[in-house]
Amino acid sequence: MKFFIDTANLDQIREAQDLGVLDGVTTNPSLMAKEGITGRNNILKHYVAICNIVDGDVSAEVIATDFKGMVKEGEELAELHDQIVVKVPMIKEGVKAIKYFSDHGIRTNCTLVFSAGQALLAAKAGATYVSPFIGRLDDISTDGLELIADIRLIYDNYGFETKILAASVRHTMHVINCAKIGADVMTGPLSSIEGLLKHPLTDSGLKQFLEDYKKGN
Ligand code: E4P
Repeated sequence: MKFFIDTANLDQIREAQDLGVLDGVTTNPSLMAKEGITGRNNILKHYVAICNIVDGDVSAEVIATDFKGMVKEGEELAELHDQIVVKVPMIKEGVKAIKYFSDHGIRTNCTLVFSAGQALLAAKAGATYVSPFIGRLDDISTDGLELIADIRLIYDNYGFETKILAASVRHTMHVINCAKIGADVMTGPLSSIEGLLKHPLTDSGLKQFLEDYKKGN
């Protein structure tokens, strides 16, 4: 399972990269705005800065919602760095754009996916990644993990190569459950990754080991 971090914050990206388990980064316009990154040029520069920190794929989202606009923006984003994956929303024009990008060797991440039908369509269009937003489904009393399981089943039935990128991950149990179901990738905040290492028995065990060592040395 690959771990992506879902942020545009360079310090957090560096911290996750330093841990040695980071496989990529996802961003979105809201995450960029949160870091105060505004204006097309600054946003493009920021994507390059992120690519220079991590080794893996970096999702960069188009803003246009029409086919032509998405293609223009996506081609510009893909030109920035070979780690860039163009993030395209699951709308009708987006499906056409994903198909275009797939035919032209540009990798895509189909975002804002909330149903198995949408995921099937994204795979048919040749998306590299599909991003079901599990946290946002949980927010409206719908089981996000059930969607991951449904997509896994559908993709396995037909051997679709589109990777399931569990997005809108909010906490460590999301990560563990996505791993149990077989999501290919998860993207979440740094806390969802760091939460995996915490256990009180590890802390108390280590404390005891160190105290016992000191007694004999
Ligand atoms: C995915 O690529 C999105 O950036 C993200 O996971 C959305 O998460 P949120 O629902 O916590 O905003």
